[in-house]
Amino acid sequence: MTKNDLPLVLISHKLPVDWITSLSGKCRLLICAEASTNNISELTRYINQAEGLFTLLTIKVDEDLLAGATNLRVVSNMAAGVDNIDISACSRRGIPVGNTPGVLTEGTADLTFALLLSIARNLPKATEDAKRGNWKTWSPTGWLGADLSGATLGIIGMGKIGQAVARRALGFGMQIIYMDTQPCNESEASRLAIDELLIRSDFVSLHVPFTIETRDLINAEKLALMKSTAFLINTSRGQVVDLDALNTALREGKIAGAALDVTNPEPLPPDHPLYQVPNCLILPHIGSATHHTRRRMAELACANLIAGLDGKQLPHCVNPEVYQSKQLP
Ligand code: GLV
Repeated sequence: MTKNDLPLVLISHKLPVDWITSLSGKCRLLICAEASTNNISELTRYINQAEGLFTLLTIKVDEDLLAGATNLRVVSNMAAGVDNIDISACSRRGIPVGNTPGVLTEGTADLTFALLLSIARNLPKATEDAKRGNWKTWSPTGWLGADLSGATLGIIGMGKIGQAVARRALGFGMQIIYMDTQPCNESEASRLAIDELLIRSDFVSLHVPFTIETRDLINAEKLALMKSTAFLINTSRGQVVDLDALNTALREGKIAGAALDVTNPEPLPPDHPLYQVPNCLILPHIGSATHHTRRRMAELACANLIAGLDGKQLPHCVNPEVYQSKQLP
């Protein structure tokens, strides 16, 4: 096989070469060079030639893009969440979709805990005050925060990441309750309905995927159930929280604070009112952003891609129904 016979793979963003070395010799790569969040025009231009598509969570793989993807045999998303991809549209075309679960569990749970600790102990305000000259003395009543030990953590979505957060919380002496559609055998925590969980929790941490059912799951009505001393942490998907309702709840003191790694939209524009709320901490979606985790995600995405190009079952496939009518090697 000459180099030109190799299948063409479109990569939606430039990545460090040493993260994708496993692709070399297996395919021709066309890397969309723009570092923009949505370089869809370049993708659209080349999609008809591509047999493989390597995407990040900022790229929408929808009917419009797929309509031109006449040669596409695999979509590999370098993310655990696949809400950017129209899975049924891929399945209808027999295209397997891969994701990268597992490898980002610990990194995302670490960041969840970093957010939880930061917002509980007022770190954004304390560091800002220190920087601005408002640190006049050791103040017995300054920058007081909330204790973790003995507090109740309500985990909404007790999948891999939810469980990893629960393990950390136990180490801090927290009580755990959770809400999930399925009971979690790995945990002795009580499973509650969402309203009960919100009423009882001192901290609420979100770990559900974004689906039709979870859009605006945390809205004004749900925020009203939370204690006025409670904190909300979101490292799942921005669409799970109604940001207008959160903004109001924080400004009216309905809850004590919020820490968000994800927002809707992303990026959250710099003039968004939530940035002005002192007890709201906002990060630019960095849950999985460690050197090791991002490399592992890329490697897993490459493994999915190679399997798809070879006509084999992807190691992590979110629509295995595409294999039902196929003979795999
Ligand atoms: C990150 O948010 C992911 O879903 O991988």
